[in-house]
Amino acid sequence: MSEAGPGGLPRKGVPYADVIAEMEAASAQDADWRAARTWSLVYHADRAVEAIVQAAYSRFMATNGLSPVAFPSLKRFESEVMAGVRTLLRAPDGAAGSMTSGGTESLLLAVKAARDWAAVHRRLHGEYEFLVPETAHPALYKAAHYLGVRPVPVPVGPDFRADADAARKLVTPRTILVVGSAPAFPHGVVDPIGPLAALAAEHGILCHVDASVGGMMLPFLERLGHTIPPWDFRVPGVTSISTDLHKYGYAAKGASAIVYGSRALRRFQFFVQPGWPGGMYASPTLAGTRPGGAIAAAWAAMRFLGEDGYLQLARTASEAASRLMAGIRSIPGLFVLGEPDMTLFAFAARDFDTYAVGDSMRRRGWRLDRQQLPPSLHLVVTANHAQVVDAFLEDLGQSAAEARGQAPGVAGAAYGMLGEAPAGTDAEDFLLDFLDQAL
Ligand SMILES: Cc1ncc(COP(=O)(O)O)c(C=O)c1O
Repeated sequence: MSEAGPGGLPRKGVPYADVIAEMEAASAQDADWRAARTWSLVYHADRAVEAIVQAAYSRFMATNGLSPVAFPSLKRFESEVMAGVRTLLRAPDGAAGSMTSGGTESLLLAVKAARDWAAVHRRLHGEYEFLVPETAHPALYKAAHYLGVRPVPVPVGPDFRADADAARKLVTPRTILVVGSAPAFPHGVVDPIGPLAALAAEHGILCHVDASVGGMMLPFLERLGHTIPPWDFRVPGVTSISTDLHKYGYAAKGASAIVYGSRALRRFQFFVQPGWPGGMYASPTLAGTRPGGAIAAAWAAMRFLGEDGYLQLARTASEAASRLMAGIRSIPGLFVLGEPDMTLFAFAARDFDTYAVGDSMRRRGWRLDRQQLPPSLHLVVTANHAQVVDAFLEDLGQSAAEARGQAPGVAGAAYGMLGEAPAGTDAEDFLLDFLDQAL
């Protein structure tokens, strides 16, 4: 980097080729997701999908989805993406939604819409609560934190699915929403959406299904003949569903979708300010400026792959996941947690240190997220991982053999998600320090 000027900018601009070279060098230690040795964070189908997504993103990189008037192209892309998503989610006639920047934004909007719906339809003000399974994504707790709604955790059973009977006892007059995951990220199991949605309907409240990770995979697995627990708009009482296009939709980062059962419900998601001197302002989602690149790239991925392409990718990923699970179950001392409904799952060691297995795998170049409660290692399997199944299982067998007999140690920081805080530290402080030091 040339000498820094005030504020850390280089005094003179750096030539194009040098900037490119610096970026290449900077990424040398990044996770090599194309080689399929990383098991989270990146959903890579293959080079062909990557190429079309990249082309679309670059072509529309400067555009802004905030104004459908200025960019009719983006309006068309978003409406076609949403039509495709509505079909996959089996949404009823009259359903409506929006593209958002990711699973977190979609969930924030689902909670906001539920809160504002309750204020109008149930004249409920002040303290709001919603039911959220313990295994549901932290984005729901983030939504609660940002929106002033109290999350009420619903315990999960030994199968890691939300306990619908326990949920029933947690409903109060202040409950505005019941959430279920399809599936929950940690163990890949779908919550009992039928009973949860029925509970919501009985109390005249809303039910959101977080299908962030499953919405672009479960419909194709169903077509491939897999038995999938009911989770979509065919389940009576489900009022909204979110699904991420930047996960198993294989789009570029920054693309998710939320669908409500009716346009009337979607209106509670919107924000408008008619009196702004800059002009009457209307924003459908949380973001102001909406990156056109992400919208165009999602459209391009769906157009390029079509149903056949997604079916093929789902088939390859689920075969790879089945081979992995069978291989893991055959390694002495290792087991898969629960009965995963999809292509993501967790495994652990029965009587030796699970995290030591993860450490050994890391030394062999594999990046696995650590989970807790109980300790486990996590895999999100995509079609791209089919090429490494045998090599992974071979290394896992050796890593388990190495870890066997080792006493459980202190986990410390791992990749992606953190395992657990070092003994004697406050977990919240540990995580806040982690964020502080990362930036
Ligand atoms: C079930 C579920 N919900 C929500 C999210 C959050 O999505 P994002 O990271 O795109 O905000 C994830 C991410 O993995 C997820 O698996």
